[in-house]
Amino acid sequence: MKYYILFGPPGAGKGTQATAMVEKYNLHHISTGALLRKEIAAGTELGALAKDLIEKGNFVPDEVVVGMIENEFRTVTGVDGFLLDGFPRTIAQAQALDSMLAKSGEGVTATVSIMIPDAMVMERIKGRALKEGRADDASEDVINNRIATYHAQTEPLIEYYKTAGKYHEAEGVGTIEEIRERIFTIMDKF
Ligand code: AP5
Ligand code: MG
Repeated sequence: MKYYILFGPPGAGKGTQATAMVEKYNLHHISTGALLRKEIAAGTELGALAKDLIEKGNFVPDEVVVGMIENEFRTVTGVDGFLLDGFPRTIAQAQALDSMLAKSGEGVTATVSIMIPDAMVMERIKGRALKEGRADDASEDVINNRIATYHAQTEPLIEYYKTAGKYHEAEGVGTIEEIRERIFTIMDKF
């Protein structure tokens, strides 16, 4: 199995690019954010826990998302691999992923990173707020908190995967099609 990490700041275009990536490489897309929003919409206990945290732009606990990922790995079949979108987001999550995969003698295939400047994060998320109505897109303060949390907790993963020789970056400024081609150029190597 291939295990790709789709990395990047909030609003970089991970969800946008994921559709073409899963289709071309026969992958199962796992967006932890989308799974959590589904739990919120279904009114589950997990959803109730996640709601307040997400709406303030804070992370849900590591063990919650790690459990969600384990569950997807266990239950999804018929694909050549997984595309992890929005996971891992902390060093602890990356270590949990490594040990999860090591149990079956596997490991992360590659991290594909979409990189855009903070000003563009704000612009893209504000644009999406008009179309999708996500609660965590509605306020500038929450978006700024997500950006700050990304820099503090998620950005260190760049070094983590560089050290492992698994970090590949696609410039995220450009049209959706241009960025898709940059991503495919990276993924074609694996
Ligand atoms: P999550 O849903 O993962 O949100 P995010 O990381 O903040 O990322 P987004 O979904 O906001 O952005 P995206 O990169 O997918 O961009 P998109 O393609 O939509 O997580 C939400 C929350 O859940 C977190 O804040 C946290 O609380 C919690 N959570 C999730 N995972 C967690 C974890 N592992 N641990 C702990 N907590 C977790 O694009 C954005 C907009 O830009 C769209 O409108 C799109 O149309 C537009 N766009 C895309 N590409 C382009 C382009 N090239 N040019 C112009 N516009 C573009
Ligand atoms: Mg997304």
